[in-house]
Amino acid sequence: MRGLPTGAQTHTKEHPTVIIGVPKEIKQDEYHVAITPAGVRERTSAGHIVHVEQGAGEGSSIPDAEYVRTGAKILPDPDEVWGAADMVLKVKEPVQPEYHRMSLRKDQVLFTYLHLAASRECTDALVAAGNVAIAYETVRLPDNSLPLLTPMSEVAGRMAPLVASHHLMRAGGGRGTLVCGVPGVEAAKIVILGAGVSGMAAATLAVGLHASVYILDKNLERLRQVDHHFRGALETIASSTHAIEEQCADADIVIGAVLVTTIFTGNASGYVAVAVAVLLLGLPFAFLTGDDPLPRLRGRRAPAAPIG
Ligand SMILES: NC(=O)c1ccc[n+]([C@@H]2O[C@H](COP(=O)([O-])OP(=O)(O)OC[C@H]3O[C@@H](n4cnc5c(N)ncnc54)[C@H](O)[C@@H]3O)[C@@H](O)[C@H]2O)c1
Repeated sequence: MRGLPTGAQTHTKEHPTVIIGVPKEIKQDEYHVAITPAGVRERTSAGHIVHVEQGAGEGSSIPDAEYVRTGAKILPDPDEVWGAADMVLKVKEPVQPEYHRMSLRKDQVLFTYLHLAASRECTDALVAAGNVAIAYETVRLPDNSLPLLTPMSEVAGRMAPLVASHHLMRAGGGRGTLVCGVPGVEAAKIVILGAGVSGMAAATLAVGLHASVYILDKNLERLRQVDHHFRGALETIASSTHAIEEQCADADIVIGAVLVTTIFTGNASGYVAVAVAVLLLGLPFAFLTGDDPLPRLRGRRAPAAPIG
């Protein structure tokens, strides 16, 4: 890598042109692309070079011509995209057919979501490749916030009530409950564990769906903010093993939106109790956490609906 520039640049020794390669995502069911035509324009107008693999934007309805219009060059061969790039921009972690491409350039930066805890295979491939890999989900601003994880939490959080509502209906394999109820029939009860970024996003949709919403968090100050934000449209509950069990017992949907690392270094038994209760009661469980700690339990009575 010849050094990453900061801000608008001309080609100087200190701020050299960077060749950015954007391959098509090949992980199963992944339809995103790592750059939009607007993003291409920002980079090319700053003097950088952007190579986009042919058809990379198809899954997101972005034709190659849009990229060309904003200054990208379309390359048909993924090996060429990876091989020429100072920096490879992706969405998901590399999968097996991409491993050999990671070692095409030792001086390359790979910038993507990696979620390495979920894949030993990918971790080993990255170590063997010896390039520089930066995981979006670990990038922090000086105020400690996670600017690249937050949008994914927002997306996953907003999707959770939609996906879970589908699975509550007969057509989705559920017991035939309409989440919003109808006059004379009560709405479904949605319990959200964790009032962080994804929990709040889930709550926004759940309230919008006219469900009966309960949100739990350990952090009382956070619950005060949630209460203020929703102005009585949902119930806030201090999280404890007892409260979680009690709330989940008659819930129609439970959405897990707690960082697993937090909960396992804290009170693991509470979490396991929830998941067991949810699965045995046969409830839709929209599992927001990236790493599912309960694979053995999943699918016994009610399969979890993983998001993302
Ligand atoms: N599947 C996906 O696509 C996807 C995308 C983004 C995030 N996630 C996952 O969603 C989870 C939440 O992410 P986030 O960005 O909202 O995190 P966050 O840190 O913003 O929120 C977590 C919240 O959980 C609360 N909490 C901690 N322990 C608790 C407990 N015992 N009971 C109740 N609440 C508790 C914290 O106080 C915090 O408010 C993470 O596991 C993350 O990996 C999944």
